[in-house]
Formats: sequence, C-alpha cells, structure tokens
Amino acid sequence: MNNMITKKLFVSKNSNDNDYITQAVKILAAGGIVAIPTETVYGLAANATDETAVKNIFKAKGRPQDNPLIVHISSLNMLYPLVKAFPNKAKKCAEAFWPGPFTIVLPKSDAIPKRVCAGLDTVALRMPSNKVALNIIKACKFPLAAPSANLSGLPSPTSAEHVLKDLNGRIDAIVFAEDSNIGLESTVVSFAVNPPRLLRPGGISVEQIKEILPNIVIDDAVVSQINKDIPVASPGMKYKHYSPKCNITIIDSDFDSFKAFVEEKKNVCALCFKGEEKKLSVPCITYGCIDDSSSQAFKLFNALRSLDDKNFAECFARCPNKKGIGLAVYNRLLRAASFKVIKI
Ligand code: TXA
Ligand code: MG
Repeated sequence: MNNMITKKLFVSKNSNDNDYITQAVKILAAGGIVAIPTETVYGLAANATDETAVKNIFKAKGRPQDNPLIVHISSLNMLYPLVKAFPNKAKKCAEAFWPGPFTIVLPKSDAIPKRVCAGLDTVALRMPSNKVALNIIKACKFPLAAPSANLSGLPSPTSAEHVLKDLNGRIDAIVFAEDSNIGLESTVVSFAVNPPRLLRPGGISVEQIKEILPNIVIDDAVVSQINKDIPVASPGMKYKHYSPKCNITIIDSDFDSFKAFVEEKKNVCALCFKGEEKKLSVPCITYGCIDDSSSQAFKLFNALRSLDDKNFAECFARCPNKKGIGLAVYNRLLRAASFKVIKI
C-alpha cells in the first residue's frame, strides 16, 4: 500500500471555489480514502457503508481490526437510519454539543457494516463543526467513517503536514486546510448503557456533560491502565497510543521539584509549559501555558511529534491540571508515557 500517489486537495480562500469538495467526494464515492480536517484532529475518511473502503482505512493506518471507527454525519436525518435507538439523554447531548467534539455511541442498525464497529453491536457517531468536514459530508450524502489520520500508535495529526508525513503514498488524497483548532480528539460517551458512560475524555469536558447528565459514569480506562485480556467498553483505550518513539515519563510535582529532578539527569529533555524553558538547563519542548488547558490541548500532539523530529530519546513531562479539557490532555499524555508517572 506504499505506492499510491496521494493527491493534495487545497481548500481555496475563495468560498465559491469548491473544487476540493468535488474532488474529495468523487474519490470517496468511488471507494477511496481521503484525509479531511476536523476541529479536533485530522480524520481518515471513507464511505461508512462501503465495507471495502473501510477495510482500506485499517490497512493504511495499520490499525488493529478490533478497534472500531467513528462515523461522521452532517445532519440528524443522516443518523436515524444508522441506529436502532436514539434515547432522550443522547438527543439532549446532541442538541447541546453538535456540531462539535462529542461522539455518541448507540445501538447500531444493519446499515453500518460490522467491520466499521469491529463486530460490536454499537456505532459511534459524531457531527463535526469544522466547515470543510461538514461540507464534504453534506456533499457526499453518505456517512464517513473516520479514525484519526495517523499511523496507528503515533500521536493524532493536527495538521495536513502531519498526515502527509504518516500516510503519504498510503491514501488517495489529503484535504489541506487549517490546523485543527482543538488539537485533541472528541469526547466519547456510550448511551448503549444506562447510566451513560464516558469512554474517552475529549473536546467537551466532563463538567459540561454533567450539566446535562449529572449521573454520567467515568470508565476506569480514562485515567488507569487496563488489563489487555479483559473486554473493554472502548477498545481504543487499550492500545499504546499517542506515542512518539521517545520514552516519556510524567513528573507530578511543582516546577521547582521538576527542575531539580530533570537537571540531575544526563541526555534528557523536558516537555514543559511555555516560559519554563527559560528556567531549565535541559533542552525543552513546550506544550501550552500552565494555567490554560485549551492551549495545552492545542499544542500537545505537535509537541509529542517534535520530540521525535529532534531525535530525543528520554523525556520528562510536566503534569497537566486535570480539570475541564485538562482531563483529556492528561489522558493522552498518560498513554504517550505508557502510564509512567513519578509523584514528587
Ligand atoms: O475527534 C475525533 O473523535 C477524531 C476525528 C477524526 O473525528 N476521531 C478519532 O477516531 O479520534 P479514533 O478512531 O482515533 O478514535 C475512536 C475512538 C476509539 O477509542 C474507539 O475505540 C472508540 O472511539 N469507539 C469507536 N466506536 C466505538 C463503539 N462502538 N463503542 C465504543 N467505543 C468506540
Ligand atoms: Mg486515533
């Protein structure tokens, strides 16, 4: 799969020039796979009702077959044929958070091939808010299955350049648009169970969800390592993820203790907050501001990719605050660090 020519489809600044949509739709309708921007991360899209196209997503990413995909829609009309039930609680969340970084898991209908959902009897659905993504889905008139457009195991791509680096020659096209403005993936909530369960924290915070679903249950996999041999609610959470080659350890401490700890080590680098690099004598990559979780979300995956671009082997990371979208930042960093945390 490494010998395809990957087309670059550029989004024109002229809003009347929709050539990139026409071309993306043509490729998708013919069963091709196209990377598209979304507000969370770039996604690798295929017609969700075309089993062969979906199979090619798994192949291009090297994704394990038992990790199900999210199906992207542009209207509620598109959702109804894909599910067996749409409970009231899920409807309320859709009203509050769609279009946006929120994914709803529901009992699936037969319109979605089993491969999309890795054999589960549920389907994950999301209506993205990114205009380019919405326009492409609308024009396709079929739902798009789309995981993050990275090679499996690597950090999710927040720019078209990241996608090109991972998947050039392995996919049909990449839509080049602006960088993803949230920077980490959607929140995943299952409504196939009662009470609803948070499977993955993301762009919509637990605090926001609790305003609508006060009894939401947080799955154990959100902040702890799970046994690979037992079945899990969200298969994606069991894999090594978001992981550069560089070995990362999170240091849960204040800045002074962090500084003392890393400066004692040889040949290491620090993943720290903006401004701290001036106070540290080791090489640094920053990921956002200490008191601004959204800026950390926006920068984290880019920072993780930079560790490998600079060939760092060993990295110690500052621990993010876990409130709001910070829980998602912590969840991703924890996986990038293979759950290695040192508390000082
Ligand atoms: O923001 C996002 O969600 C991005 C953009 C492209 O929309 N997509 C994304 O997809 O992050 P992916 O494949 O990297 O992550 C999908 C997550 C995985 O953790 C997967 O296990 C879970 O959603 N998932 C998908 N279908 C599921 C289902 N039926 N039940 C439980 N979890 C499911
Ligand atoms: Mg992913």
